[in-house]
Amino acid sequence: MPSEMLTAGLLVVNRLSEVSPLLLLLLLLFLLITTWNRTHQSCIPGPSFLAGLGPLLTYTRFIWTGIGTACNYYNNKYGSIVRVWINGEETLILSRSCDVYHVLRSAHYTARFGSEKGLECIGMEGKGIIFNSDVPLWKKVRMYFSKALTGPSLQRTVGICVSSTAKHLDSLHFMTDTSGHVDALNLLRAIVVDISNRLFLRVPLNEKDLLMKIHNYFETWQAVLIKPDIFFKMGWLYAKHKRAAQELQDVMENLLQIKRKMISDTDKLDDHFDFATELIFAQNHGELSADNVRQCVLEMVIAAPDTLSISLFFMLMLLKQNPDVEQQIVEEMSTVLRGKSVENTNFDGLKVLESFINESLRFHPVVDFTMRKALEDDNIDGTKIKKGTNIILNIGLMHKTEFFPKPKEFSLTNFDNTVPSRFFQPFGCGPRSCVGKHIAMVMMKAILITLLSRYTVCPRQGCTLSSIKQTNNLSQQPVEDEHSLTMRFIPRTTRQQDLQSTFSSEGSM
Ligand code: HEM
Ligand SMILES: *[C@@H]1O[C@H](CO)[C@@H](O)[C@H](O)[C@H]1NC(C)=O
Ligand SMILES: *[C@@H]1O[C@H](CO)[C@@H](O)[C@H](O)[C@H]1NC(C)=O
Ligand SMILES: *[C@@H]1O[C@H](CO)[C@@H](O)[C@H](O)[C@H]1NC(C)=O
Repeated sequence: MPSEMLTAGLLVVNRLSEVSPLLLLLLLLFLLITTWNRTHQSCIPGPSFLAGLGPLLTYTRFIWTGIGTACNYYNNKYGSIVRVWINGEETLILSRSCDVYHVLRSAHYTARFGSEKGLECIGMEGKGIIFNSDVPLWKKVRMYFSKALTGPSLQRTVGICVSSTAKHLDSLHFMTDTSGHVDALNLLRAIVVDISNRLFLRVPLNEKDLLMKIHNYFETWQAVLIKPDIFFKMGWLYAKHKRAAQELQDVMENLLQIKRKMISDTDKLDDHFDFATELIFAQNHGELSADNVRQCVLEMVIAAPDTLSISLFFMLMLLKQNPDVEQQIVEEMSTVLRGKSVENTNFDGLKVLESFINESLRFHPVVDFTMRKALEDDNIDGTKIKKGTNIILNIGLMHKTEFFPKPKEFSLTNFDNTVPSRFFQPFGCGPRSCVGKHIAMVMMKAILITLLSRYTVCPRQGCTLSSIKQTNNLSQQPVEDEHSLTMRFIPRTTRQQDLQSTFSSEGSM
């Protein structure tokens, strides 16, 4: 048998030398035909079509390494504008600030893309706000979010952030292990989910259980977002994700039931107007469906735990790696806050803190990119964009390749000079920007001030931002294994006594 195969093989090789010119020609022709339309369409750099192999390879990379990692790979390899395929659909990855800025501000890119079945699985298809691509419905829903996240609501935020942070710090000993370490990321998540509840929902809830379900929901979101349709037929694999999504939806439904009862039990609603109440009223008036109301509340509750708490965690790590910056922030705090409560402080005076937050969001972002879809034909700086093209804005890479004096380092000098807005967009801008961008800044400042005036943190020996394991899938996240994310919380005693007295009014000392 083997010898037979060998001779057959040799024969083929022999013949090949005769037919190879013809074969090559055929192959070339085949490649030409299959790539003809594409080369004609555009000359955007990117991996070649290779008779259909290209789309398969790029798609595999996206699924295998995560969306964020794949985007950085392609931008680094092909330049600031790259054409790839996700699930067979043409997708452009942009990382140059003028191109990104164009898309952000244009009204032609107010939809997102993602697997329809995947979005259905997590309840985001045509519902909620984050991945809702039913544009008229998204516009309506976005108004409710805007109202809850800007204007007068911003004022309540500081007080709630301060008291919630203080409350959790007071019971820090419950979260401390025998070696004196605290699971910092989960502490921050607990603070942030409590704040979100007190701002938008105001229903008593089981924090720990809710956080676990939010975590599983996020994992599912990452897993299904760009999967091919066939994935949703793979029973047991898909069932696990369907269940994780369902569990959070059920929690939300229960909380909303309680809320509905609370509303019908009060006669005076004046001081009971919050996000959830507004939505329930909208449902009662036939403006929104019950499913949509549930999804909106769900997304409002997960938004901060999925982004803000991780940003704050990165910031705490960066502070320890840059002790001079921590000292500057603490000094600025004690000057600005002297004799005032945090609620009555004008945050505009906290320039160092703001530069620190900006630089952290630039240097080590949680949200590295954002996904859009072209709703019209367009032209971006000479590149033709066909209606329906998927667009990924690689904001994280943009922040590290343009404008900043020390793009690859963490340094507050990057914000010494005013940064023109097109070069720094951690929340996006324009019609589909982060609707929570203002409240997020206020929340981060209020939480950081409260935390840093009482504690300095110390990550476990040897743990730095570059040494902890991280993934960059839907967003950039630390991998939560064992103890790598724990920190010691060391009370500030000597230098900060002035500042601490400011907080005694909250009874948190
Ligand atoms: C450090 C914290 C945060 C960061 C870095 C961040 C960043 C972002 C980014 C980059 C987007 C996509 C924007 C675009 O496509 O142009 C986004 C969308 C969004 N963010 Fe945030 N965000 C943060 C916190 C929050 C908070 C606290 C909330 C709400 C309480 C929130 C609610 C939303 C919503 C609802 C969207 C979807 C908006 C839409 O599609 O219309 N975010 N965020
Ligand atoms: C090229 O595009 C035309 C229409 O734009 C389409 O009908 C044709 O099937 C395409 N050919 C190939 C090989 O993709
Ligand atoms: C991306 O997320 C999915 C779902 O959680 C996971 O299966 C995959 O391993 C992740 N990829 C990376 C590189 O973390
Ligand atoms: C921080 O970034 C925002 C834009 O997100 C900008 O408006 C602000 O001026 C920046 N602050 C500092 C101190 O650079």
